[in-house]
Amino acid sequence: MRIAVASDHAGFTLKKGILSLLEKRGIDHKDFGCFSSERVDYVDFAVQAAEKVRSGEYDRAILICGTGLGMAMVANKFPGIRATPCCDAFTAEMSRKHNDSNCLTLGGRILPLDEAEEITTIWLETEFEEGRHRERLEKIVQLEKNLAGIPE
Ligand code: RB5
Repeated sequence: MRIAVASDHAGFTLKKGILSLLEKRGIDHKDFGCFSSERVDYVDFAVQAAEKVRSGEYDRAILICGTGLGMAMVANKFPGIRATPCCDAFTAEMSRKHNDSNCLTLGGRILPLDEAEEITTIWLETEFEEGRHRERLEKIVQLEKNLAGIPE
C-alpha cells in the first residue's frame, strides 16, 4: 500500500506523528507538504495528494487540516476518491467496512496524537465488507459519471 500524506499548517504537527506511525509500520508513503507551520491553504495540499490517488500512483491518502473537513471537501471533488473525516474509532472502522474509504482526513485541532494514531491504525487494518456496500459505491461511480455528463 502506498499512501500520499498532506496537511496544511493546522495539521502540520499531527502529521509529523502520523508520518512516524507510517514509518514504524513500514508503510510506503510520501509527504506532499506543507513543510512548516506557516499559514497555507489546505486546498492546495489536498489537491496534490488527491491527484496521486486519482492517477493510481498512490493507493490511499491521509490528509490533515484543522478539522479534517476542508481536506475532505476538496478530496471528494476527485472522481474515485472516497474521503472520510474520522474523529473516533467507530467512524474509522465503518469508513473502511461500509465506505471503502481511500482517503482518511483528520483534524489537527480536534484530535490528540494517541487518538489520531488509533483512528489511523484502524483505518489501515480494516477491510471493506463488499456485498451491498459495493453496490452502493457503484451508484456513486455512476453518479459521478452522470454529473460529469459522461454517457453510460
Ligand atoms: C485553517 O485555519 C483551517 O480552516 C483549516 O485547517 C481546516 O480546518 C479547514 O477545513
